[in-house]
Amino acid sequence: MTGRVVRVSGPLVEVEGLDGLSMLELVALGPQRISAETVALRGARATLQAYEYTGGLKVGDLAEPAGARLSGHLGPGLLGHAFDGLLRPLSAAPLWLDPERAAAPPAEWEFVPSIAVGTEVAAGDILGTVPGAGSVEHRVLVPPGVAGTVTWVGAGTVRAADPVARVGTTEVGLVERWPIREPRPFRERTHGVVPLHTGQRVLDLLYPLARGAAAAVPGGFGTGKTMLLQQIAKWCDADVIVYVGCGERGNEMADVLDSLADLKDERTGGTLIERTVIIANTSNMPMMARESSIHTGICVAEYYRDMGHDAVVIADSTSRWAEALREFANRFGELPAEEGYPASLASELAAFYQRAGRVTTLGGRTASVTVIGAVSPPGGDMTEPVTTDTQRFVRALWLLDRDLAYARHYPAVSWTGSFARDAEALAVWHAAAGDPSWARRRARAAALLAEADRLADLAEIIGTSSLPGHERVVLLGGRLLRDGVLMQNALSANDAFCSAAKGAALLDLVLDVVDACQHLIERGVPATLVERADFGPVLRAREETGPDDAGAVASRRDAALGALEELA
Ligand SMILES: Nc1ncnc2c1ncn2[C@@H]1O[C@H](COP(=O)(O)OP(=O)(O)OP(=O)(O)O)[C@@H](O)[C@H]1O
Ligand SMILES: [Mg+2]
Repeated sequence: MTGRVVRVSGPLVEVEGLDGLSMLELVALGPQRISAETVALRGARATLQAYEYTGGLKVGDLAEPAGARLSGHLGPGLLGHAFDGLLRPLSAAPLWLDPERAAAPPAEWEFVPSIAVGTEVAAGDILGTVPGAGSVEHRVLVPPGVAGTVTWVGAGTVRAADPVARVGTTEVGLVERWPIREPRPFRERTHGVVPLHTGQRVLDLLYPLARGAAAAVPGGFGTGKTMLLQQIAKWCDADVIVYVGCGERGNEMADVLDSLADLKDERTGGTLIERTVIIANTSNMPMMARESSIHTGICVAEYYRDMGHDAVVIADSTSRWAEALREFANRFGELPAEEGYPASLASELAAFYQRAGRVTTLGGRTASVTVIGAVSPPGGDMTEPVTTDTQRFVRALWLLDRDLAYARHYPAVSWTGSFARDAEALAVWHAAAGDPSWARRRARAAALLAEADRLADLAEIIGTSSLPGHERVVLLGGRLLRDGVLMQNALSANDAFCSAAKGAALLDLVLDVVDACQHLIERGVPATLVERADFGPVLRAREETGPDDAGAVASRRDAALGALEELA
């Protein structure tokens, strides 16, 4: 069955003559076989959303249904490689990729069966593994909906299209096709929270994220969204990272690829790129594929989740994705809602963030998909629809502050506009994991920041010298906390990543120094004298001690307290 193109308007294409076409079915258009998805059906006429440039497509061109929805080919060869929004390898095409770094995934793999003929299996059970497919174990599973007795199992060299086992009469391939918009099934969501350690102190200490939760990073132009997301991609303690570059600059994607290829992964001994999948739909690539790239990213993460891994999807930027939704809705003649976005914007965002979760998989493994999305509000306007809707669906909000970025306080995460809804539950986890002071430390830091901000406003009016001694120490403490703990230098070998233990030690260092200073004031030492003490070692501790050297930080604390005692 083939139909004909009757109208083309940018990515919107109308075709006729395709009876029996179903919603979301994929159609190939014209001689270039442009991929398009069915988004509306009206009698004999279907409206399609094309994922590639429609330049050259003509009225009368053939339209051929693919008989399937837009699906990702999930298999070995994803980790360490770059793909477009439809999960096609980006090997030859775009110029921003270094050809050497962008080598196509291998065509052949080694399959090592872990199950014998005659075994009863159900969906999610492991049939075998594929060594050499990235730095986490690649497990080939019985696909959803399949169960029975293993009647044949392969071994040795296989190609992507080959079967690796037969369950009953169903062949299971090395590569599984899955519709990108359909969440992959799992047994149930797990109870209880476990932190995702990002290695970024302001997040881990103040606005922590649980595995399987969703977070958003809203921030105006140039406030450091991409830098923060890249830091998380490099240092968070997930097994698999899916980095989706959506409508952003191509050179940034090349940067991610390059730096991940150069960074050692302590846990696996490989490089970080071997646990990363890059999905790139940069600003110079077709706009509508941004729309699919977000779903493709989640679909890939769910695939690794089902193997039992903790995956993180990083999307930069969800605002560019929302622009693609708006672009299409407007051509489609949909009645625009707020700021021209379709009325479905909130439900589209919800559908994206709600695919995050920590679950028991079909195979009984505990695993997660964590979602972190950047939001780029035009003009830094935090009341625009994408930003406000996103806030409703995330567990953590890491708001980037323009003034902090302007003052080169990076990461510019605001301590007045950010939130972490799982902080209390995570405090319980930390206490059980041997750090009972986690919640108290966090509360003291938050209180000190708020009090220092309030006093700074006051000091601007009446002058610092008019404040009583203990308030001047609060101002000092705020500065030590901001510069010595919350700021983090992404370019420093010691500071780019911070372990949980070192983060806690740095915060203890500052809080104990503040307490000691207050004690001096109480004992009658003048505030000016306290302020003039040398706090250099405190402020430099983060860069002068190793990324996991809590012991060295503790020594600095003892030295700093000793030096202050001499002022008494
Ligand atoms: N953690 C950091 N350490 C040092 N410099 C930083 C850090 N974060 C951001 N910067 C500086 O800020 C600049 C802009 O950062 P970035 O590109 O991440 O911002 P953005 O919010 O993604 O911008 P855009 O709105 O253009 O996407 C960087 O080029 C860098 O100079
Ligand atoms: Mg950016």
